[in-house]
Amino acid sequence: MSNAETSDSHFLNLFSVMLGILIVTAIGLFALARSLGRVQLKDQMTQATYLSAVQNNIAPFAREAIAGQDNSALTMSPAAPPAAPAANIPKTGEAAFQQVCSSCHGLGLNGAPKAGDKAAWAPRIAQGMAVLYQHAEHGYKAMPPRGGTNWPDATIRAAVDYMVSLAKK
Ligand code: HEC
Repeated sequence: MSNAETSDSHFLNLFSVMLGILIVTAIGLFALARSLGRVQLKDQMTQATYLSAVQNNIAPFAREAIAGQDNSALTMSPAAPPAAPAANIPKTGEAAFQQVCSSCHGLGLNGAPKAGDKAAWAPRIAQGMAVLYQHAEHGYKAMPPRGGTNWPDATIRAAVDYMVSLAKK
């Protein structure tokens, strides 16, 4: 075998090995992407909001009553019942804080005690939780009642608890 042939076959071997590795990697990535995508897609596709949005999108644009037939399905019914306000109520104090309270308390705007600022919160905490709840629910000076929301007491209190806990860390 001449020198040139050896180096050719050496190159070919190396080339095939590299190609093989790349193909295996590509297949691996493809499989990974598919399995990740499936989990997310499945989550999304089974969500009630998603399903009702699809129902709305594929609902016939207009429905006609046909004389002599059963038209009971045509009684006006809202395609998607308006989301209950309860759906917008955050579940934790932290979520409530992030959603609304932080707009003032995050940076300490307009004299709002800044979340996590121990010095600003110490005298307020000293009033006792009952007073803080009362002020958060009914408003106090520039603090709007319930931070301007219609969230129930429990949510407001959880948000107060959360801010108080930040000031105690
Ligand atoms: C529009 C701005 C704004 C929003 C939104 C807001 N706050 Fe306040 N908050 C204030 C201001 C300003 C004060 C300080 C009032 C004062 O003492 O003069 C305050 C004070 C407080 C106090 C201390 C009251 C006291 O007795 O010292 C609590 C507790 C409180 N806010 C809770 C909340 C909660 C919980 C939310 C969210 C649900 C919220 N705030 C949203 C502006 C806001």
